[in-house]
Amino acid sequence: MVNIGVLASGRGTNLQAIIEAVEEGRIEGEISIVVSDNHNAFVLKRAEQHNIETQYINFKKFKKREDYDKEIIKSLKEKKIDLVVLAGYMRILSPYFIRTYKNKIMNIHPALLPSFPGLHAQRQTVEYGVKVSGCTVHFVDEGIDSGPIILQKAVEVNDDDTEESLAEKILKEEHQIYPQAIQLFSQGRLIIKGRKVFIKEVNLR
Ligand code: GRF
Repeated sequence: MVNIGVLASGRGTNLQAIIEAVEEGRIEGEISIVVSDNHNAFVLKRAEQHNIETQYINFKKFKKREDYDKEIIKSLKEKKIDLVVLAGYMRILSPYFIRTYKNKIMNIHPALLPSFPGLHAQRQTVEYGVKVSGCTVHFVDEGIDSGPIILQKAVEVNDDDTEESLAEKILKEEHQIYPQAIQLFSQGRLIIKGRKVFIKEVNLR
């Protein structure tokens, strides 16, 4: 059973997909806490509706990013979290946070990394004119969207796609691959070697 802590800042549709995967038994684990830097975030309501503990931590109360991160880590430690899932979390984690949960932090990015890292990935995609984009689940390292890639899913970019229509198409795939990646983690099937992630086959008898 993997004990999951989620950090999120926004509407929380990825959290919703993960909650459903847990409730349907696709993920062998439990979401023990959802932490947000935004107390109006709809993600907190979604968590409460499923009786998941939530915590809002006000970033402005801390002088340094590391102090803020230490406050989050305190809550995660209390809950004995094994895996930190970033689900639309709009802050960059300090190196201290990343070291504390080395290879135990996942993120989802709405582009096929290493293309279009950073903010507004779907806008960057449409403006660039690529024909294929998608989403990437990766482990978090100290760079921006640069950690070892776990799963990716491609979608076609059509001539009439806008930032919004592309975001919607990609989001549908996010909701598939994020729970899948967490499921693989919960089954102990993700092996990181350097910057590559290998997925262990299951032994079927
Ligand atoms: C998603 O597009 C995800 O790829 C990005 O932030 C967005 C979060 O959406 N990291 P939601 O809050 O899960 O609906």
